[in-house]
Amino acid sequence: MTEKQTWSQRFESSLHPAIALFNASINFDIALIEYDLTGSQAHAQMLAHTGIISPEEGEQLVTGLEQIRQEYRQGKFHPGVDAEDVHFAVERRLTEIVGDVGKKLHTARSRNDQVGTDTRLYLRDQIQQIKSQLREFQTVLVDIAEQHVETLIPGYTHLQRAQPLSLAHHLLAYFQMAQRDWERLGDVYRRVNISPLGCGALAGTTFPIDRHYAAELLNFDSVYANSLDGVSDRDFAIEFLCAASLIMVHLSRLAEEVILWSTEEFRFVTLKDSCATGSSIMPQKKNPDVPELVRGKTGRVFGHLQAMLVIMKGLPLAYNKDLQEDKEGLFDSVNTVKACLEAMTILLKEGLEFRTQRLAEAVTEDFSNATDVADYLAARGVPFREAYNLVGKVVKTTIAAGKLLKDLKLEEWQELHPAFTADIYEAISPRQVVAARNSYGGTGFAQVKKALLAAHAQIAEQ
Ligand code: ARG
Repeated sequence: MTEKQTWSQRFESSLHPAIALFNASINFDIALIEYDLTGSQAHAQMLAHTGIISPEEGEQLVTGLEQIRQEYRQGKFHPGVDAEDVHFAVERRLTEIVGDVGKKLHTARSRNDQVGTDTRLYLRDQIQQIKSQLREFQTVLVDIAEQHVETLIPGYTHLQRAQPLSLAHHLLAYFQMAQRDWERLGDVYRRVNISPLGCGALAGTTFPIDRHYAAELLNFDSVYANSLDGVSDRDFAIEFLCAASLIMVHLSRLAEEVILWSTEEFRFVTLKDSCATGSSIMPQKKNPDVPELVRGKTGRVFGHLQAMLVIMKGLPLAYNKDLQEDKEGLFDSVNTVKACLEAMTILLKEGLEFRTQRLAEAVTEDFSNATDVADYLAARGVPFREAYNLVGKVVKTTIAAGKLLKDLKLEEWQELHPAFTADIYEAISPRQVVAARNSYGGTGFAQVKKALLAAHAQIAEQ
């Protein structure tokens, strides 16, 4: 194996060095090694269980594989390009450790079902890690929301002031996105957790294997029902990349808001020194690099999703080497999502301070209570569209006079419509404007408190 390459005697001469490098995946699929070892141990146990190899041989293989795990963890396992991929690297080292019995490991197996097994085991782990990171992110959102039920913030549509909100309500919108992300990963997990092991190269195997036994050892929920599908399916990876892309969409939206809020134009938040950076030339600058990077890194995850779709499109059954291209994008997406979730969680937790004084001023300096004037009239029998038109008129004249709605005298209101009484002032105060939106899922304080309770219950589910 070491002298030429790992495959059969069919080959006369060795690979061109540049082609060997081009063909090899060891430089990145080494990330799968622990899963490869675990998968191989289950395979060896299955071979012994079914009598395809002896119990002693099974034992030797499992122990030898465990030794490789220790070597790897101690930083002593460094296979080179000559090993081609992690699967060959492990088999070669195993044979060095346990002798000829190592050559029995690959009985009734192909690298095609092996790599599919490894990738699924890897992704299963990563999904659980990302799910728990999402829970941490949600917990921080809820903690901040708890402190800001009564803090008001301008709400926008078209990035124009629309209606004021409870800041908690705004933050809980991101909680809901993260909740869907968490649930979506659970859905993806169900299709990741199916074993292709034993599908062989494409057609199954002549040996009396027990696929269900191996699958159970590896905690798979079920096994692929069709061997061709089992070795060539990457739907699970695409589904994961979709879920990862949506996580990035959500993080990127929040990142964008934090960036806007930290500008001199908004001044809604202050970035703390622990999470902001300076400029090399402009001494006054404090830059929101963390949310900018999160926003920027979104592109690569979307790109990996696109790449995976294109890799699969038009791929004939069953395994094709194109499938080796599934890994780098998947690994990078996993690493990117994890890094971004961690950074955003830290940013929220300790890198950001809401400027409550400034927010309180912000909600009083605009016309975001105009809907409430129309609602006021509509609640007193004026058809809403008529009320809407009347208020449009008064907004126009009030802007022209350089005033706000709260500055209008009661006579002016009554001139506009006799239904106005002195309680109009309370009705259009920002606090009341928010409190009054007590419809289910609205920003009214009572609703927000209920939403917080529901959120606590949701994050308790792990
Ligand atoms: N390194 C390969 C991959 O990542 C393993 C499977 C190779 N199978 C094969 N028949 N060449 O896809």
